[in-house]
Amino acid sequence: MYSEKVMDHFNNPRNVGEIENASGVGTVGNAKCGDIMRMYLDIDDNETITEAKFKTFGCGAAVATSSMATELVKGKTVKEALEVTNKAVMEALDGLPPVKVHCSLLAEEAIHAALWDYSQKNNIEIEGLEKPVTDIGEKEEAPEEEY
Ligand code: FES
Repeated sequence: MYSEKVMDHFNNPRNVGEIENASGVGTVGNAKCGDIMRMYLDIDDNETITEAKFKTFGCGAAVATSSMATELVKGKTVKEALEVTNKAVMEALDGLPPVKVHCSLLAEEAIHAALWDYSQKNNIEIEGLEKPVTDIGEKEEAPEEEY
């Protein structure tokens, strides 16, 4: 049911941990399942993400998507990182079962939350970035009946 890539990132998650004095930190949860993800980003003067780490207290798909999300945003500019959507993360993982799609939203929103934190701290505006929610359950796209 899970792709090999999902299993790999679940069993050997990349970039687990924290960044001290990170440029941006974002925490997002889903009150419905109780899962929480925290994303740390280090961003240099050229607005390039030099380091990304995460801590996820959540299901296997949440761990795998956060692991892949950190891999995808590393080396990207802040603007490019906005293109790392939950769809992009899922594609990179060769898909997720439909009932687990919402878990990947946590990864997307955690990136946005960390970027938002960075933009607020530095008083800059990141075009296309909206204020993230702290509870992803509020904007979940996956139909509820699938739970
Ligand atoms: Fe909550 Fe996967 S079940 S994030």
